[in-house]
Amino acid sequence: MHCTKKITDDLIWVGANDRRLAMFEGVYSVPEGVSYNSYLLLDEKTVLFDTVDKAVKSRLMENLEYGLNGRTLDYLIVQHMEPDHSSAIGEMLDKFPKMQVVCNAKTLAFIKQFHDFEIDSRTMVVKEGDVLSTGRHNLTFLMAPMVHWPEVMITYDTTDKILFSADAFGSFGALNGAIFADEVDFERDYMDEARRYYTNIVGKYGDQTQAVLKKASAHEIKLLCPLHGFVWRTDMKVFIEKYKIWSSYGYEEEGVMIAYASIYGNTENAAEILACKLRDKGIKTTMFDVSVTPASEIVSAAFKWSHMAIASATYNNGIFVTMEAFLHDLQAHNIKNRTVAIIENGSWAPTSGGLIRKIFEKCSNIKFIDNILTVKSSVKEDQLAEIEAMACAIANDMGK
Ligand code: FEO
Repeated sequence: MHCTKKITDDLIWVGANDRRLAMFEGVYSVPEGVSYNSYLLLDEKTVLFDTVDKAVKSRLMENLEYGLNGRTLDYLIVQHMEPDHSSAIGEMLDKFPKMQVVCNAKTLAFIKQFHDFEIDSRTMVVKEGDVLSTGRHNLTFLMAPMVHWPEVMITYDTTDKILFSADAFGSFGALNGAIFADEVDFERDYMDEARRYYTNIVGKYGDQTQAVLKKASAHEIKLLCPLHGFVWRTDMKVFIEKYKIWSSYGYEEEGVMIAYASIYGNTENAAEILACKLRDKGIKTTMFDVSVTPASEIVSAAFKWSHMAIASATYNNGIFVTMEAFLHDLQAHNIKNRTVAIIENGSWAPTSGGLIRKIFEKCSNIKFIDNILTVKSSVKEDQLAEIEAMACAIANDMGK
């Protein structure tokens, strides 16, 4: 049975939610599910903005049939060719023989890479600034390369001032009956997932995101329609401001994100003592065991907080495996502009600290709290002063 949501008098959400997906993109857990948004515009011509993932394709087809109410589909705008939004292109071509696929040249190449059906004769290739008039609505296409794929474009409806923003301004989390962000307590219940979505999916491409924000700022936006998560019709400034912070690698909160990898609890003990000493100085802390918490959550926290303390056991003469994996993930997401304190542990040859520093040296504008604190097997009484000194150095760095 169809399950759609009205957005405006002539715009309908015809997407679907997936709460069974274990790992989005095969790597990010989505315990709250995920929505794949697809929008149907009912003008003199009918337009579908993107399709959905193959797991929920049948729901899209039901929703679309209901939304069209006997009409045909004239245009399918493909803003992004990642398969979570493009699985139903073939079905659309078969079901609507006169439908045109509207996309840019790079998208067309990607469609041919992913699929074998004939597409050239069914395609309207557009470029930056081109306008598609569908009757009352005029749709302008704006390229958004590398946010987060090279072919991404977004679409601005100059008539109703709607920005169809592709993956930008998306969020993990199924919609659970609501469609607008103002129907839920987004800040309380969804912002963490929105940050985890941005930082892990788009985070590497901050400069490109900034370019899109600049492009979008030239337009009045009354509705913001992303491909995942809620539609924004009020207070979108709050979310846009978050995007400005995240994409410029600024921080939301002053405080220390402590991540540790501990084999028998002794490295954890050093990290806990540091956390206590920081709290004693009125500094906010958050802590993660990298062997327990998924890396995507810790990457997201690294983007949120101003400082990091990384504590790791030495293992096979290197960084402990789960920490090494996390740090490479963090570096791949282009983290920058942070202050980092390092604690290493090793019973006979502690080497993890220097190796951790080397990974961060590949990132831009990373400042180190001077001395790597070395634990040999377990923290001893006389090392408490060293940990206190590290806490003081972090406090000094914050100007406290
Ligand atoms: Fe939601 Fe980049 O696809």
